[in-house]
This record gives sequence, C-alpha cells and structure tokens, in this order.
Amino acid sequence: MTHTITLIPGDGIGPEVTEAVVRILKASGVAIDWEPHVAGIVAFERTGEALPVELVDSVRRNKVALKGPVTTPIGLGFTSVNVGLRKALDLFANLRPVWNLPGIDSRFAGVDLVIVRENTEDLYAGLEHEIIPGVVESLKIITEKASTRIAHFAFQHARKHGRKKVTSIHKANIMKLSDGLFIDSVRRAAREYIEIAYDERIVDAACMQLVMYPEQFDVLVLPNLYGDIVSDLCAGLVGGLGVVGAANLGADIGVFEAVHGSAPDIAGKQLANPTALLLSAVLMLRHIDEGEAADRIMTALGAVLTAKAVRTRDLHGTASTLEFADAVCRAML
Ligand code: NAI
Repeated sequence: MTHTITLIPGDGIGPEVTEAVVRILKASGVAIDWEPHVAGIVAFERTGEALPVELVDSVRRNKVALKGPVTTPIGLGFTSVNVGLRKALDLFANLRPVWNLPGIDSRFAGVDLVIVRENTEDLYAGLEHEIIPGVVESLKIITEKASTRIAHFAFQHARKHGRKKVTSIHKANIMKLSDGLFIDSVRRAAREYIEIAYDERIVDAACMQLVMYPEQFDVLVLPNLYGDIVSDLCAGLVGGLGVVGAANLGADIGVFEAVHGSAPDIAGKQLANPTALLLSAVLMLRHIDEGEAADRIMTALGAVLTAKAVRTRDLHGTASTLEFADAVCRAML
C-alpha cells in the first residue's frame, strides 16, 4: 500500500534532516507518496502567509505529516507556525517517548518514560496584553474539557503499550484553581483505568526526582507549559534534543516532528544530526501500521550508533547529515 503523507521540510536545518530521513524511509521499503509544502519564513516571503491554507488542507486530507523545524521570529513578526498548526488541526496531545538509544552516552541508563503534554491551552497559548505601560498580564487558561481529554489520552496510551503507571505533574498547591482543575480532571479519568497505577507530583519536586531517579517514572501527563519544560529536561536525561522524537496528535491526525528547533547556527552546513526526526518518523510508521519498516530502521540505527564509526558532530563525529543517513540505509541492506 502507498501512503500519501504531507511533508513539511521547514527551514534552517529542516530541509537537510528531512532529506536524510526521506532517504532512510525509502530504503526501509515503505511506499510513501510525499506531498511537500513550505511553511514559515519561506512561505511568508512567497505567499504572505507563514502557515499556508494549502498546507493545512493537505494535512487534513492525508491525516499524517512529517515536519521539520520552523523558525519562529522572537518578539515581532509572524506567530509560531508550530502553535498555529496545532491549533488549526486540534492536535491536542504532544507525545514524546524518552529512552536510552544504544550507543548514545548519557548520564542515566534504564530511562524509559513517555511524556504526554497538553498542547492547546495554559500559559503557552500566549494570551497576553498590556494593562498599563509597564504592566502586562498573561492568561493561564485551563479547562476541564482539555484536561479530561489529555488525561484519557495518557491512560489509553498506557493501556495500549502495557505501561504500568501514570503520574500527573502540577503546581496545584499554589495555582489551586487552574492546576487544581487539571489534577481533578486527571483523577476522575484515572478511576476508569483501574489496572494502571496513578500518582501526582508537584512540578518542582518532579524535576528533582527526574534528574535523580528517572527510572521511577513511566507515563507523565502535564499541562502545556510544564510539559514544554519537563520534556526538554527528559530529553537531556538520554543525550539531548538530537536523539528524541515526538508526535503531535489529534483525534485522527498525526504530525510527527523532531523536538529540536531550526538550529540557525549550523543550518546549511550538513552538520545536523537527523536522528531526532528519524525517531519521529519511526513513530509515524508505527502510527500508519508500518511496524516492520519501523523495526528495520531502529535495528539499523542502533547498529550505526553502536559501531560509533559514522556520527555527526554533536555526537563527536565528523560525518555529514547525509553520510549518516547513508550509513543507516546501508545497515538495512
Ligand atoms: P534549536 O533546537 O534550534 O538549537 C539549540 C542548539 O542545539 C543549537 O546549538 C543547535 O545547533 C543544536 N541542535 C539542534 N538540533 C540539532 C540537530 N538536529 N543536530 C545537531 N545539533 C542540533 O533551538 P533554538 O536555537 O532555541 O531555536 C531556533 C529556532 O527554532 C527558533 O526560531 C525556535 O522558535 C525554533 N523552534 C522550532 C521548533 C519546531 O519547529 N518544532 C521547536 C523548537 C524551536
């Protein structure tokens, strides 16, 4: 079967890591008909829209997209394409599995956890205004509907993947109403999954526990802003942003993207590591029931990383982005 999938290479290192990953997917034997679309500054210069309507329509139609990073201008300029896409397609869940890849040195072994981050509301929605000069207000909106939805997503993910425990992360001791509503909603959902253990941690204590004893965590469910921060912390446990994949999921749509940004400091130099986007692509393959191709890629990636002969600069090697991709392709032969 041929899958039609929207491809958003993005900008900065996006096109380089995307080309590498598309090459590896092709070598894995999976048949994909890509529908490429520009986004961000390239699209803005071409069409006046950073998030063209054709792109959004393409993802709606195909239900699946692979996306490279897109630069968000700081301060003025267009608003985040990433946030816009999540809103337009109601991609309410951000899923980030975090585990030790073979051959990657990190401070911890035995990390195997999943971050489930609410993706649509909270302070991260960026609802801000100036009350009077020198005083601004930023609104933290938490709803029962979105909190309940993400809670069920986390428990269903745990159930489907045989995970044993869900931990919700909050600061309800201080934000009694907003984070209080979040954990109340998760607690109510938890009652429907009696085979899965449930506990709660305050976000600051959870951060300390994560960097001391990460092996005690299984599935973590968090409101948007804590999810943003804690998920990068967790990436750091296993070797950094270059070796973790992610998915933004809605009711029937999945946009699979690396967790790192467009890395303008190394863009266009073939220095980027495509592993993070490749791991997102592997999540995508499992999502579209191409588990065999996903397994083939993971075995090949593990072999290349363990051999340590071909590595990109961030992993102290000298290989280019495409040389690394070619090594993974060769390992699948
Ligand atoms: P960044 O993740 O782009 O870069 C941080 C550091 O990590 C840099 O030194 C970079 O060279 C390195 N790095 C990142 N990815 C790498 C890779 N694959 N291989 C090797 N090294 C890598 O974060 P930064 O600089 O904060 O953001 C740059 C731009 O990306 C911003 O405009 C930001 O808004 C955007 N961004 C976009 C995201 C997305 O499209 N999902 C996610 C995060 C940031």
